[in-house]
Amino acid sequence: MTTHKSSALRKAIRDRHSFFGNNPLVVKLLDDIDRVATKNTPILLDGETGTGKSLLARKIHDLSQRKGPFVSINCATFSQHLLETELFGHAKGAFTGAKDARKGLVATAQNGTLFLDEIGELPLDSQPKLLHLLEEKTIRPVGSDKEYDTSVRIVAATNKRLKDLVKQGLFRADLYYRLSVVPFTAPPLRDRPDDIEALTSTFVCQLCEEHELTSPHISTESINALQAYDWPGNIRELRNHIERSLLLSIPLHETLPAADTNSATTNKHCLKSLEKEHILKAINESKGNKSQAAKSLGISRRTLDRKLKRWDQKAA
Ligand SMILES: Nc1ncnc2c1ncn2[C@@H]1O[C@H](COP(=O)(O)OP(=O)(O)O)[C@@H](O)[C@H]1O
Ligand SMILES: [Mg+2]
Repeated sequence: MTTHKSSALRKAIRDRHSFFGNNPLVVKLLDDIDRVATKNTPILLDGETGTGKSLLARKIHDLSQRKGPFVSINCATFSQHLLETELFGHAKGAFTGAKDARKGLVATAQNGTLFLDEIGELPLDSQPKLLHLLEEKTIRPVGSDKEYDTSVRIVAATNKRLKDLVKQGLFRADLYYRLSVVPFTAPPLRDRPDDIEALTSTFVCQLCEEHELTSPHISTESINALQAYDWPGNIRELRNHIERSLLLSIPLHETLPAADTNSATTNKHCLKSLEKEHILKAINESKGNKSQAAKSLGISRRTLDRKLKRWDQKAA
């Protein structure tokens, strides 16, 4: 791994909250986002958990040139009633305990961006109210008979396929079509192994700074292992794995969970089987002397034993 840091990498280290990557899928995504960020259309971000949807929402706001704030709410964490009062506010005396009128997040995000995370969890009964906001650009606080004009950009994210929820009757089709005028997908980490090295160095730098640790050398063996793993928790899992390894001083290629063969990708299959083939060849060439084989492979004897044991277990 190179110690020279590209300027993009240095920028990413400075800016802890930037979504970055050089994989063609990511470059295209960022290009498309650039194109629509300043427009007022809603944006729907989908992608598995941990792929960076929240970061992307923030990025869209930063690029939007909107003067108001970025306000975010997770639709999964509120009951229907609470969610509606959070979003639209309420009038004085709207319900027991509503001593004063309170403005909601849509009003707080005025001239800015409202990020609706886990939009798939939006209760069915609340969905017409969001559709009304998107179409009429007005809101009516809970318990009020007045409508207020709004100017807010909606960015929504989901890790469920909204289309499937529509089919199951859990998500209104009209709202789905209104939200998905401009849909983007954050690619899973296993589809962008070429970004693993840069993401890893960024996280290692950030986390070493945060925990006041000296940055360790990251071996090619570690990068290869990180690229071969399929990361069901995506970038969040990668970051957490790096944090744990740094805190416990364990090389990055160790303690990776055993790959889940059911969700194996072609890419992982190739790298894994190439690795196995390569290692078995080295053992063969050293006439079964494992220490010598490990040496020729540039890995420790312990690592070699661990890999052989893992394959044995799988074969069993
Ligand atoms: N492209 C990226 N570049 C740098 N860090 C990223 C990127 N994508 C995600 N992360 C990091 O991964 C973690 C999960 O990102 P998040 O936006 O919360 O994912 P999601 O909302 O899709 O579950 C966060 O710690 C975030 O900082
Ligand atoms: Mg998120």
